[in-house]
Amino acid sequence: MFETIEWTSAGVVRLLDQRRLPAEEVYVECRDAAAVAQAIRSMQIRGAPAIGVAGAMGLALAAQSIGARSFEEFYAELSRHGEALRRTRPTAVNLAWGIERMQRCAQQHKTLPIAELVQALIREAQQIREEDIRDNRAIGAYGQGLIPDGAAVLTHCNAGALATAGYGTALGVIRAAHAAGTRLSVWAGETRPFLQGARLTAWELQQDGIPVTLITDNMAGHLMQRGEIDLVIVGADRIARNGDVANKIGTYTLAVLAQAHGLPFYVAAPLSTLDLSLRDGEAIPIEERDPKEVTDWAGVRTAPVGVRARNPVFDVTPYRYITALITDRGIVRPPYDAGLAALAGPAVAL
Ligand code: MRU
Repeated sequence: MFETIEWTSAGVVRLLDQRRLPAEEVYVECRDAAAVAQAIRSMQIRGAPAIGVAGAMGLALAAQSIGARSFEEFYAELSRHGEALRRTRPTAVNLAWGIERMQRCAQQHKTLPIAELVQALIREAQQIREEDIRDNRAIGAYGQGLIPDGAAVLTHCNAGALATAGYGTALGVIRAAHAAGTRLSVWAGETRPFLQGARLTAWELQQDGIPVTLITDNMAGHLMQRGEIDLVIVGADRIARNGDVANKIGTYTLAVLAQAHGLPFYVAAPLSTLDLSLRDGEAIPIEERDPKEVTDWAGVRTAPVGVRARNPVFDVTPYRYITALITDRGIVRPPYDAGLAALAGPAVAL
């Protein structure tokens, strides 16, 4: 089994290069925060919870190299690195969440000598990784009962072990159901333009021996119409207070299609994906990437030279299309605002 991201005993961050999957299983080592930022930006590591862990580990790397004399100096430098990491990708709130948690940890240990403070930050980053795996297993345990025996499940993008510290959110639910003996098969949407479904989800499920069939994104409606899809389950990059969900571009289309065909549409995500500061999904920043990802395929230009192209890489699915949210603290059904606030508890500011 692969490791998506880990802190090694040599004090470096090792991550599986997801740009090269499935052709090659290559690990890269990041020795400073700038290298982690570049890995996130270039999508060597991607997926909301995984970049949350990467951001935290990036700050742990930064902490190791800050030669400060006082806590104030140390914290100012740490925050500067945090800001640079946070700017790499705007949509997934987990990245900001991971960075803020590291900053809080630094504040809590401000009276320690700097060397001990650095060790506390390294431990915190490792803890964030371990908690993510634990939370995904909880999501799987809560969600697996939603998949009936014999179900054909459509998923989008990659919300698996590769998108998290391990096990996965949407794929975690599928994994847990499969492990519990539920017979199921998965339709993986290829997820244009970056092909997370074709390259990553298909690969991950194959590794686990879970039956998977790849389709292009525009085939979903046809298969639903023919009764070949029983439910949809996806991950999330940010969930607003009312239950609106930002996720990989194309998710909204699938949610509308699912509702038109009377199919359940589930979103699986840990609480670190909740953004209770946002009333609804309208204010969620949507990342736009290089249009080259649309005009080119595998480095080869497929569109005419000079044509305009757009590349928004996430969309927002309004809460009314979502049957239930599967979180690490349980399943939430509408009305989401009350359910999410109760689940998040007093620790998360409203
Ligand atoms: O652009 P990506 O590959 O980082 O987008 C990933 C997704 O949209 C996932 O569905 C989401 O982060 C949830 S991953 C558990």
